[in-house]
Amino acid sequence: MPSPHKTPVIDICNLSLEFPSPRGAVKALKDVSLHINPGEIVGLVGESGSGKSVIAMSAMRLLPQGQFRQTGGTVRVLGSDIMAMSEAELERRRGRDIAMVFQEPMNALNPTIRIGRQITAILRRHQGIDHQTAIARALSLLESMQVDDALRVMDSYPHMLSGGMRQRVLLAMAFSCEPSVLVADEPTTALDVLTQAEILRLIWRKARDLGAAVLFITHDMAIVHQLCDRVYVLYAGEIAESGRTADVLRCPAHPYTRALLAAMPGSKQPKSALDAIDGTVPSLIDPPRGCRFQSRCKVADDQCGRKPAMEAVVAGAPEHEVACWRNSERRAKA
Ligand SMILES: Nc1ncnc2c1ncn2[C@@H]1O[C@H](COP(=O)(O)OP(=O)(O)OP(=O)(O)O)[C@@H](O)[C@H]1O
Ligand SMILES: [Mg+2]
Repeated sequence: MPSPHKTPVIDICNLSLEFPSPRGAVKALKDVSLHINPGEIVGLVGESGSGKSVIAMSAMRLLPQGQFRQTGGTVRVLGSDIMAMSEAELERRRGRDIAMVFQEPMNALNPTIRIGRQITAILRRHQGIDHQTAIARALSLLESMQVDDALRVMDSYPHMLSGGMRQRVLLAMAFSCEPSVLVADEPTTALDVLTQAEILRLIWRKARDLGAAVLFITHDMAIVHQLCDRVYVLYAGEIAESGRTADVLRCPAHPYTRALLAAMPGSKQPKSALDAIDGTVPSLIDPPRGCRFQSRCKVADDQCGRKPAMEAVVAGAPEHEVACWRNSERRAKA
C-alpha cells in the first residue's frame, strides 16, 4: 500500500510550460503542482487538450528539445531534478526507475523486430543478463501479463498481434525492470471494453505486487474510481482540484469536477462532459486572466477574473484541495 512519508517518486512543483507557435505561445501548463508517493496509484483526469500528456512527457523529459519553453517550476523524479540530468543519467533512469506506456502501443514498438527481441533487448540493457536468461525472463513476464501463448507472441512481429496483446507486451516491457513509477497515458482508450477492463486490472495488480507507483492518465472518471488512490483534475493546463479519490468523487468541490462526474455512466446527467457544460475550452494562446474555467462556470462572478489559489476544501477531508473562489468565500465565512 502507499507509504506517504517517503520522498515522492514524482514531484512536480509550480510547473509552467509553453509551446511557441506563429500565432503566439500556447500556454499549455500554468503553475501545475502534482506529486506521487511511493506505491500510490494517482489519476490525472481532464478533457482533451487539457495538458495531461504534456505533464506525462515532462515527467519523462520526453518533450522535444527546442519545441517548448519551461517558464517556471521544477520536475523531480525520485528526488532528482529531471531537467538537469545528463542524457546518460536520463537513459539509465528511463525504463529502470520510471517507465511509460502510451495510448497507441504500435508507436512504441519497432514494427520490423520480433517481440521477443524487443523485450530481451530491454532486459539485457538494464539488467546485464545473458541471452538465455533474458528469454526465460521475457516469457515469464509475458505470462504474468496473462499472455497464454507467450512463445508465439515472442516470435511475432507487432502487426501480427491485436491491440490488447500489444498493450500487454508493452506493459511487460514497462514492468520488466520493476520501475518505481509507471506513467500510463490513456493506455486502454483504443481498446474494446472487455480488453480495457482486463488491462486495467493487470496494471493495478502488477503495480501493487511490485509496490510501483502509477500516474494514470485518463478522461474517464469511472476508471479513476476503479483504480486510483488519489486524483488530480486538470482543466486547460491548470489543476482545478485534487484529493483522495473517494473524497473527490463523494464531495466534488470544483464546478468542473462536478461536470466531469455528471458525465460518468450511471449518472442521470448528460452523457459527455462537454454536453454537460456550456461553452468550449478557452484558447491556450490567449487564456482568460484568473480562473480558466470561468467562461463555462454557472457560479462564476467578478472575483473569478483573478486566479484562485489551490487551498484546502472547507470542511473537506485531508489532502482535498480546490482552486475556486466559491471555496475561498466559504473559508472566509467559516
Ligand atoms: N509539441 C507540441 N507543440 C505545440 N503544442 C503542443 C505540443 N504538445 C502539446 N501541445 C498543446 O498543448 C495542449 C495540451 O495538449 P495535451 O496533448 O497535453 O492534451 P491532453 O490532455 O493529453 O489531450 P488528449 O486527451 O486529447 O490526449 C494542447 O493545446 C496541445 O495542442
Ligand atoms: Mg494526451
